[in-house]
Amino acid sequence: MTEAPLSIEDILLPADQLDGPVDWHQIFGNDNPVEIEIGTGKGTFLINAARANPRINHLGIEWANKYYKYAADRARRWDLSNIRMIRCDAKDLIILHTPPQSVQTLHIYFPDPWPKKRHRKRRLFDAKFVAAAVEALIPAGRLHVVTDHKEYFDIIEPLLADCDQFQLSDFKPCDTAQLGEWVGTNFERKYLAQGRTIYSRTAQRIISS
Ligand SMILES: C[S@@+](CC[C@H](N)C(=O)[O-])C[C@H]1O[C@@H](n2cnc3c(N)ncnc32)[C@H](O)[C@@H]1O
Repeated sequence: MTEAPLSIEDILLPADQLDGPVDWHQIFGNDNPVEIEIGTGKGTFLINAARANPRINHLGIEWANKYYKYAADRARRWDLSNIRMIRCDAKDLIILHTPPQSVQTLHIYFPDPWPKKRHRKRRLFDAKFVAAAVEALIPAGRLHVVTDHKEYFDIIEPLLADCDQFQLSDFKPCDTAQLGEWVGTNFERKYLAQGRTIYSRTAQRIISS
């Protein structure tokens, strides 16, 4: 018997039903490892990662309604049952709704830099977010961050380095990236075409004895 094609409702997670820690088994219907991409935009990385790794569950978090729906519709068209999309503030999802030690990888590619001083409080990365991110990761789990914005990167990197549960290393290009790319997102393609420098780092949760 062939399974029915996915509908958009199979992919969209209603954010208004969030209440306490999420149950990944209930959300994905299996106990496969969970990876989260924060700020998927149109979902190019998410779709490629989910296609390449069908035994990993991928949650995309996207605040912009247009892109959240766009990425979810791409997942539907590719019939990717290992993707869910949620529209919410990723900071809240990581701090308030992610069970401790439950996420294998956090992907954060080209986070909004909010360069104006009065907007900086909107940035994703601060000490509270980093503390919640490390708590969400399984031992040896990884947070990957890639950006073109040097000033924001110079804030992100020390925040990660100051966390004694993280060990930092060079970010290695994703398997799904094309030649010359780090991750293969839409923003990265635009910035590479403009000749901008890309900054990246991986933070791995240490395995405490
Ligand atoms: C600069 S775009 C990068 C999109 C994609 N990662 C790429 O590289 O093409 C940043 C995206 O993150 C989303 N975003 C920013 N802050 C967010 C937050 N706190 N929670 C969820 N999404 C967020 C924005 O709506 C936007 O689509």
